[in-house]
Amino acid sequence: MSTSCVHLVGAGPGDPELLTLKAARLLRQAEVVVYDRLVSEEILDLVPRGAVRLYVGKASGCHPVPQKDINSLLVDVARSGKRVVRLKGGDPFVFGRGSEEALYLARHGIPFEVVPGVTAASGCSASANIPLTHRGIATGVRFVTGHCRENGELDLDWDGMADPSTTLVIYMGLANLSLIGAKLAAAGLAGDTPVAAIAEGTTARQKVCVATLADMAERVAAAGLEAPVLIVVGHVVKLATVLSKAAPAKDRLGLEERVVAV
Ligand SMILES: C[S@@+](CC[C@H](N)C(=O)[O-])C[C@H]1O[C@@H](n2cnc3c(N)ncnc32)[C@H](O)[C@@H]1O
Repeated sequence: MSTSCVHLVGAGPGDPELLTLKAARLLRQAEVVVYDRLVSEEILDLVPRGAVRLYVGKASGCHPVPQKDINSLLVDVARSGKRVVRLKGGDPFVFGRGSEEALYLARHGIPFEVVPGVTAASGCSASANIPLTHRGIATGVRFVTGHCRENGELDLDWDGMADPSTTLVIYMGLANLSLIGAKLAAAGLAGDTPVAAIAEGTTARQKVCVATLADMAERVAAAGLEAPVLIVVGHVVKLATVLSKAAPAKDRLGLEERVVAV
């Protein structure tokens, strides 16, 4: 039996309409789908009934399937000759460990193809009417992780990140919000810098909490936001207030429901 190609596919941030045409086609043709926690049910509905679905994400309170087991599972499925999709939330190459899986497949002589997805930064910011860059306000954007490996120290370039002319997007930062706020303030970022926390962005359950660097941890806790949450820090957040007033109500997401504090 010939070895099949593993498609490392990005599912986007949740809204199934943000899936690429290529991702949708591969899902409809799949015989085996290996998927993560952040992949929405509506997207899984595209997988044919007869296909095997293998969940390798972390359930609340449980340990995730170790990465090494996921890697060897992908090799085994590819060697079975089945059409396999490895489906990940957002983009596989943005904080998705897609590159680790690609390296493992390459080392084992398994062909693979990466299919990009809309990353949370793009999807959630668009859905909350926050442009990531804006002429005269933000000349660049930086994506960082707010989660430390094996609960070690959060070792980030705080001085570089404390730049008022750049938008900072923090993935996986919910548990470390107080620490992140304190570190950025110590590096010189003003306490009144606007911040938006977007929970379950692009889905019907989306919630947005707007705060400042100084009070973001407190406000996000008070708003009761739950993971997945994306944090956007920078002056572009102010534009959300203006744009949200002008934007027509979306088909599925009422603006009033989505914005809990602006
Ligand atoms: C392990 S990372 C995966 C990122 C993914 N590969 C991507 O490109 O978006 C998970 C983090 O992404 C962010 N995230 C992903 N989907 C999200 C969503 N729909 N709403 C808010 N944050 C999201 C959260 O910060 C979450 O903790």
